[in-house]
Amino acid sequence: MNDVLRTLDRIEISDREEFERAVLAGLSRTPRAIPPKYLYDARGSELFDAICELPEYYLTRTETAILTRCAAELARLAGPGCALVEFGSGSSVKTRLLLDAMHEPVAYVPIDISRQHLDATAARLRRDYPRLRVEPVCADYMVLSALPTDLGRSPRLGFFPGSTIGNLEPRDATSFLRRARTLLGDRGALVLGVDLKKDPRRLHDAYNDSAGVTAAFTLNLLRRMNRELGATFDLGGFAHDASYDPLEGRIEIYFRSLRPQTATVAGRTFSFAEGERVHTEFSYKYDEAGIAALARSAGFTIDKTWTDPDRLFAVVYLEAAPGN
Ligand code: AVJ
Repeated sequence: MNDVLRTLDRIEISDREEFERAVLAGLSRTPRAIPPKYLYDARGSELFDAICELPEYYLTRTETAILTRCAAELARLAGPGCALVEFGSGSSVKTRLLLDAMHEPVAYVPIDISRQHLDATAARLRRDYPRLRVEPVCADYMVLSALPTDLGRSPRLGFFPGSTIGNLEPRDATSFLRRARTLLGDRGALVLGVDLKKDPRRLHDAYNDSAGVTAAFTLNLLRRMNRELGATFDLGGFAHDASYDPLEGRIEIYFRSLRPQTATVAGRTFSFAEGERVHTEFSYKYDEAGIAALARSAGFTIDKTWTDPDRLFAVVYLEAAPGN
């Protein structure tokens, strides 16, 4: 327990150094890539919230509509007295849909890398759910394999909404789900939100909105490097670049250099050719067979799937597969 807390402490203290190390490593490798979690500084999180409101970005509102419809059934499947464990707690709108439907939930455990985000979410939920134990965990859920919180024998219901799983390459998606499977235990279950394969035009538009909010979200990473690492990126010298690859079944997002240029990060100079791209995100899209294969590969079975009338998005209820 103390070891876990000390580790969490260290993670928080070294935020800036970790970012610097990830950026230097990411710009030194071929092809260049910076992990998507660094998109979410305070401004990045605000921009992402704005993305969720965009007319082209159907994901959030579609998932919310599905959850509104299926919350009662999810709560029945999970049973009474569960602890709700959320991986990457966002704005908590969707969380409330679950909490309101659940029968006597004993605890809510939001896991997030942002201390500020976490504290704000926890404070709001404690105010609105005075009888609920709220136990925030500040950690990267991608590397967390045990909870530093004593939840007793309560069954654990995991929640991983928003198609965040789509950021992960298939191998990492499997290893994340395996870790979640371990963390949630043999009686555990997981509510997973997944964006579905569809008309490529529709997918393209969702990541190339006409208001330019998604572009601002990608390019905010340059701004963050300048501010936190003293980097010298020319913000006007790069463009957001997002396209759908139907063979890979994924949106690929980059920032692209508009001309030959250099930028300095932590004393090191990097050259960018005209048209050179730095990868920031994948957003994998699944079909139902793909979701089932993913679940199986991680020791889960799909108990139930809900989708919207246009089959844009799916919410699945996964149960720990026996003997896994
Ligand atoms: C938060 C990973 C689900 O892939 O749709 C949205 C991130 N990036 N627009 C997604 C994102 C640009 C989003 N996820």
